[in-house]
Amino acid sequence: MTRTIITGGLVITASDELRADVLIEDGRVVAMATAGSQQWTADRVIDASRKYVIPGGVDAHTHMELPFGGTFASDTFETGTRAAAWGGTTTIVDFAVQTPGHSLRQGLDTWYAKADGKCAIDYAFHMIVSDVNEHSLKEMDGLVEEGVSSFKLFMAYPGVFYSDDGQILRAMQRASGNGGLIMMHAENGIAIDVLVEQALARGETDPRHHGEVRKVLLEAEATHRAIQLARVAGSPLYVVHVSAEEAVAELAAARDKGLPVFGETCPQYLFLSTDNLEEPDFQGAKYVCSTPLRPREHQAALWRGLRTNDLQVVSTDHCPFCFRGQKELGRGDFSKIPNGLPGVENRMDLLHQAVLDGHITRRRWIEIACATPARMFGLYPQKGTIAPGSDADIVLYDPHAEQVISAETHHMNVDYSAYEGRRITGRVDTVLSRGELVIDRREYTGHAGHGAFIPRSTCQYL
Ligand code: URP
Ligand code: ZN
Ligand code: ZN
Repeated sequence: MTRTIITGGLVITASDELRADVLIEDGRVVAMATAGSQQWTADRVIDASRKYVIPGGVDAHTHMELPFGGTFASDTFETGTRAAAWGGTTTIVDFAVQTPGHSLRQGLDTWYAKADGKCAIDYAFHMIVSDVNEHSLKEMDGLVEEGVSSFKLFMAYPGVFYSDDGQILRAMQRASGNGGLIMMHAENGIAIDVLVEQALARGETDPRHHGEVRKVLLEAEATHRAIQLARVAGSPLYVVHVSAEEAVAELAAARDKGLPVFGETCPQYLFLSTDNLEEPDFQGAKYVCSTPLRPREHQAALWRGLRTNDLQVVSTDHCPFCFRGQKELGRGDFSKIPNGLPGVENRMDLLHQAVLDGHITRRRWIEIACATPARMFGLYPQKGTIAPGSDADIVLYDPHAEQVISAETHHMNVDYSAYEGRRITGRVDTVLSRGELVIDRREYTGHAGHGAFIPRSTCQYL
């Protein structure tokens, strides 16, 4: 039996901040006590003085190796989970993909195989349902039993991942019966494709037009429609990557009615804007993702939504494509730029900076980045907190360290950083995953294959 003590730090969870020592045995937290009050013996003592002791981050939205736009997201499960650990995230929930014409089973097995033996930290899966039919609807029940209890549907990307309203309603009805959580990409993709075609016909080919055609109104309309369909089906709804003030208003109105509707936003919408999409010399392609970056005025509404709990989760939607050779596929036609941004390594730091900037409190930082995503996706209290019985997924965070985010120093397998040059106060010092040191005082000590698949229960807010 291995015993570790973390001593002298400020333990921060979603509910408390206390000076406490933490005792870990065989990968789990077994006790916590007022700092210095216990004379525990241990094989290893980790000094956390002047550091925060926080739960490892839970990033509930990643796309390692996602096939998209004729290429693949550039982080593998190996490189992406290692980078996640460097950034203080100890669990990811990645999206397995059903290919149209194939079963959910085939898609999920492909993702099990991609991740198996590769991950530095623990992982779980959601399932992207891109072919809603009698067979795949039935399969959803089995996946919930297997611990893959959430299903992403797309109102966008006709001909790729898109489902029509009838298919969405059927999937929601199925989820209302089996306890699954429907995750929605809420953009009116049919209308967007018309606007894309018209923009290209006018010769508007630059990355900034990606933001212009994917209109706020078409995010708000789809969010509203998804909520109404969920009401008809009697199912809960989680809207992913919310970027527009008007979409937050739809979520807030639904929640004010007491509906089980939840919303996630991402660092790119909180820290970046259409100014980035407008960067010259095709550099704007680095910031092409969907939903798109919005004018910076939307950021205040997103921060407000996070404070008022109209938005509950910040995930990354980590979906990196290198500028060279991948984003460049869209030179001369913005619709061919693979959609997605890197960020799995940056989320905890950016949100810590948001604490210092006065947007959120320290406990809310932990709530939106660790505890709520764990509860939302049936992982709590194994993940997302520090408490007796929880996995010892723990980060020692130095709140005083200064860093400058850069592709020169990051660990993600992508040739640019969306946050290049940004100064952050705070940095991950040490990371434990189930009691094992993955990062030890800024040195990587983890290994591929340590990370295990974690079957999830259903949403714990219902
Ligand atoms: O642009 C994005 N978000 N790429 C990843 C796929 C998705 O829609 O989440
Ligand atoms: Zn999406
Ligand atoms: Zn995504």
